[in-house]
Amino acid sequence: MSNILITGVGSYLPSNIITNKELPENLNTSDEWIKKRTGIKQRYLVSEGEFTSTMAIAASKKALQNANIDSKEIDLIIVATTTPDQTFPATAVKVQSELNINIGPAFDIQAVCAGFIYALNVGSSLLKTSNFSKALIIGSESFSKILDWSDRSTCVLFGDGAGAVILEKSNKYSEWGILSSNFYSNGKFSDILYTDGGPSLNSNVGHVRMNGKEVFKHAVEKLSSCLLEAINDANLKIQDIDFLVPHQANLRIIESLSKKLGLPIEKIINTIDIHANTSAASIPLALNSAIERNKIRNGDIIALNAIGGGLSWGASVIKYGKPD
Ligand code: UT7
Repeated sequence: MSNILITGVGSYLPSNIITNKELPENLNTSDEWIKKRTGIKQRYLVSEGEFTSTMAIAASKKALQNANIDSKEIDLIIVATTTPDQTFPATAVKVQSELNINIGPAFDIQAVCAGFIYALNVGSSLLKTSNFSKALIIGSESFSKILDWSDRSTCVLFGDGAGAVILEKSNKYSEWGILSSNFYSNGKFSDILYTDGGPSLNSNVGHVRMNGKEVFKHAVEKLSSCLLEAINDANLKIQDIDFLVPHQANLRIIESLSKKLGLPIEKIINTIDIHANTSAASIPLALNSAIERNKIRNGDIIALNAIGGGLSWGASVIKYGKPD
């Protein structure tokens, strides 16, 4: 049985940083409220000429470089995004074209903040059941484009950016790579986090609407249950996890997870302060940041988990990297 290794990670952040204090004055919010309730200090926002596709391409180039492989070796591209450049074509085909790849499928997955976990699951399953050998899995979002900048309960929470990983199929090293994963949806909760527009609804992309308190409750419960399931499926215990890289939505969610799971807070990667919530990009952005800071190293056992609109959620346990 082949295993799917993560052999390279890359990310891209726009150069435009907006601190809490620089948010529009008419929002009637404060740096203090945002930091205390969410842990967010700043966010990166796209500027003119920056799009979900251009960020995805930049992150992919770095991931390819870090994996030390040529783009021509990639035979599958999946972009997790809720904010594609256009309704169609898929952002993934723009990445494919820019990287001069002319074989294999390229498509987008939409599971909002759980999108990266979904893309990882779909990508690794496809690698296992096809003759594809290497995949590029990307999370890229220009979430700022679908925010209502007069709604303080949502617009202060999100940011833009992209992250990418290279998946490689291996018939050796069975203890490395993706050890377990799961993903779930429950459409009964679709009305607590959604956009009030879309192509078939009113031809308008709409804005993010959220019942934050409700989502918070589901987040702590579902993020813990799917993570424990993934750890169990990997025949591991919580103590075996070197680092958890959770979706970055709220520092208080991260702290609640730490308490509920008995996982020391030092073992949880936290980039919410600098990235804010970047939806499908948040996990690969946080993963890349931890690798660049030499916190996560080759051979570490890492866990990922995320929840987003749908509701959709899921987790994965991975032995990161490949044997030297
Ligand atoms: O990524 C997908 C998953 N998303 C999440 O996991 C998000 C989950 N939810 C959350 O992170 C939190 O619920 C929020 C950060 C969104 C909100 O925090 P909260 O502690 O649940 O606050 P709240 O919504 O209960 O609001 C408390 C008060 C309200 O005022 P009153 O009614 O008590 O007078 C809000 O109007 O805070 C007010 N408020 C704000 N005040 C200043 C809401 N947003 C702001 C703001 N600045 N930006």
